[in-house]
Amino acid sequence: MPIDIDQRPIILTGDRTTGPLHLGHYAGSLKNRIVLQHSHRQYLLLADAQALTDNASDPAKVRRNVLEVALDYLAVGIDPDRTTICVQSGLPALAELTLLYLNFVTVARLERNPTIKDEIQTRGFGRDIPAGFLCYPAAQAADITGFKANVVPVGEDQAPLIEQTNEIVRRLNRQIGRDVLPEAQALIPSIGRLPGVDGKAKMSKSQGNAIPLSATPDEIRDAVRRMYTDPNHLRASDPGTVEGNVVFTYLDAFDEDRAAVEDLKARYRHGGLGDSVVKRRLEDILQNLLAPIRERRTALGRDRGYVLDRLQAGTLAARERTQATLDELRDGLGLFTFDVARFEMHR
Ligand code: TRP
Repeated sequence: MPIDIDQRPIILTGDRTTGPLHLGHYAGSLKNRIVLQHSHRQYLLLADAQALTDNASDPAKVRRNVLEVALDYLAVGIDPDRTTICVQSGLPALAELTLLYLNFVTVARLERNPTIKDEIQTRGFGRDIPAGFLCYPAAQAADITGFKANVVPVGEDQAPLIEQTNEIVRRLNRQIGRDVLPEAQALIPSIGRLPGVDGKAKMSKSQGNAIPLSATPDEIRDAVRRMYTDPNHLRASDPGTVEGNVVFTYLDAFDEDRAAVEDLKARYRHGGLGDSVVKRRLEDILQNLLAPIRERRTALGRDRGYVLDRLQAGTLAARERTQATLDELRDGLGLFTFDVARFEMHR
């Protein structure tokens, strides 16, 4: 076992590759990850295998979006020299860990997982739940523990998955008789999740209420124009409500000038401030935020070779790390271990 010289805590997080990332991802996690890559050893997983658990009928979409999400990462400022970006399906040790973990979790526990329950509802699976989907918490536990992650920055909706991961960790450590796997801590952003432009609780591509990081200036302008405000604020002179007003929620998330936002809120509540004025400010802010991201994304998109090289190097490094964890677990459990590279049985 090689000695780790890098003592920084380990972060693992990922995104299903079902579509390009949007402002909700940016506010909820990408922004955090850009900062954390300096203080932590960070791995980012392009979760194509997990994406297949509810997209088995469209593997081409899943594959295409591996590159799209990678472009989003690089464009927002994830630095591949500081963060290891890897493709989940290129890490066979994670599939093996998943199979192992499925023996340490019950079907009833999977069915009780609040995230799974919720997602089964929104996807309308009814009774036809793909087995891979029901079991993906075990796969996500494999992702997290395969890297021996200490910290997992995720949205609030993912907290039950971290909890279930730690249950599996405790069961395995108990079985082995020592703490081979660390428990992981969820890092949930304080701002909460960003609502969709229509005011619905979650920004999501499938709901058509998202602003993608690759949005054009026209798309940004249109999205802000149709943004949900206070339905009772009919005339500029009427007093308006700030709570639940998406334009203000977004200003809270993206406007650095807190004093200016508070001033706008006071004037809006008092009456005399029209929606169009607030929207113009938000549009400016979003245009300024997204313009450089879009430019970098376009430039990187022309250099597919570079992006794929970085993914390959990241995936190779991640292979070694996850395989080492698998070997350690197999050994701890008393199973045979094998030299993967040389197909030689260790005896
Ligand atoms: N489930 C996450 C999502 O839907 C993606 C993901 C896959 C993930 N593996 C992970 C997140 C490991 C954190 C850690 O966005």
